[in-house]
Amino acid sequence: MDKLIITGGVSLKGDVQISGAKNAALPALAASLLAPGKSRLRHVPDLMDIKTMGRLLESLGAVYRYDKSLSEAEIDTSGINNFEAAYELVKTMRASVMVLGPLLARFGTARVSLPGGCAIGARPVNLHISALRKMGAEIALEDGYIIAKAERLRGASIYFDMATVTGTENLMMAASLAKGTTVMENAAREPEVVDLADMLTSMGAKVYGAGEGTIEIEGVDELKPFDHRVIPDRIEAGTFMAAAAITGGDIVLRGCETGHLEAVITKIKEIGVSFEKLPQGLRVKGSGRPVAEDVRTLPYPGFPTDMQAQFMALMSVADGTSIITETIFENRFMHAAELRRMGADISVQSGSATVKGVAGLKGADVMATDLRASASLVVAALAAEGQTTIHRLYHLDRGYEAMEEKLKGVGALLERVK
Ligand code: EPU
Repeated sequence: MDKLIITGGVSLKGDVQISGAKNAALPALAASLLAPGKSRLRHVPDLMDIKTMGRLLESLGAVYRYDKSLSEAEIDTSGINNFEAAYELVKTMRASVMVLGPLLARFGTARVSLPGGCAIGARPVNLHISALRKMGAEIALEDGYIIAKAERLRGASIYFDMATVTGTENLMMAASLAKGTTVMENAAREPEVVDLADMLTSMGAKVYGAGEGTIEIEGVDELKPFDHRVIPDRIEAGTFMAAAAITGGDIVLRGCETGHLEAVITKIKEIGVSFEKLPQGLRVKGSGRPVAEDVRTLPYPGFPTDMQAQFMALMSVADGTSIITETIFENRFMHAAELRRMGADISVQSGSATVKGVAGLKGADVMATDLRASASLVVAALAAEGQTTIHRLYHLDRGYEAMEEKLKGVGALLERVK
């Protein structure tokens, strides 16, 4: 298994190009199932999760090609002949569940393995299932699979008990081909939801209100393939902001969408980092020790749970004590124990962590437990004294395109060992 060895203490300087958003590309790829023919997705990051979605589409009968040099995927869904998302694929990536809505809407049948729990929490899909049932789907849970059937889905009024991102996306795709109008209340408002809505609209769907709490979708009889460019990855950008902040660096993020990062930028400003909009991108300049700030994760436009771990790494060396509250996932503090191995002073209570800033971290052997936890260990290691070895690197490869090259490009000292 690969590991990453980082020698800390270098102040990062230079430019970083932000990739396309993993969490926008994944639903877009699933949405290709809604229309027969060839769709093209641009600005697609080269990531393990994207490869998994490609394999899943192939297993359903699609022809999937990815051109790394262009960051483009082409999906031909003319020959879909299988409606099952098998356990083998779903177990490696929960986002696979997003083929459920499109398969059911276009083919009237789907068999999708139930995603299990994962390191960050139980993460059920009950809200996806109950909403599809409201649209007339018959759904049984058998042998670990969601078995869904529908003559034709029909519009319905849906209220989500929790704002679920992939649940909102699954339902938006299903409702686009349903008969009648669907109204979703307490829908997720993340930029990735808005990107999917824009793409569905380009396919001929009638989606209104994405990005607000209520989304209305008038179903149409058919959709056409898309040619769409994925939005920039706001979490990748936020992670590099944290890396610049913790190393007292000065970097320019090219191609990031600051409008998607307001909560993150506000928080990082409060801890003493400065931002400047330049023609070529967003300049992020750290100076000295960060000031401790509390943070609470919330659905968009609140502070994203996907940035909580990286913010904790920053707070571990802050001047003062910070309380970090996680309200989205019940178990998303696995990184705390690893940061402690590097000398951080963090205690975890139910749902929150108290981080007493220390003057400096020390390199250690640490284990990546999930994608964003891995990113937080990278951020911490960049500032730690000496060498940090991050084990189980595959988590990082799932969600950060060319992270090592990008970090090396701004002066970080690191190497991957096979
Ligand atoms: N929830 C339910 N029932 C459901 C669906 C969700 O109880 O049927 C709960 C979840 O357990 C959680 C909350 O609702 O407590 C919100 O979860 P959500 O459904 O929004 O999460 P998700 O759609 O599974 C996406 C991202 C995650 C990101 C979360 C929150 C994708 C592919 N994944 O997950 O990204 O953390 O939204 O913003 O879009 C990551 O990229 O590292 C990652 C984990």
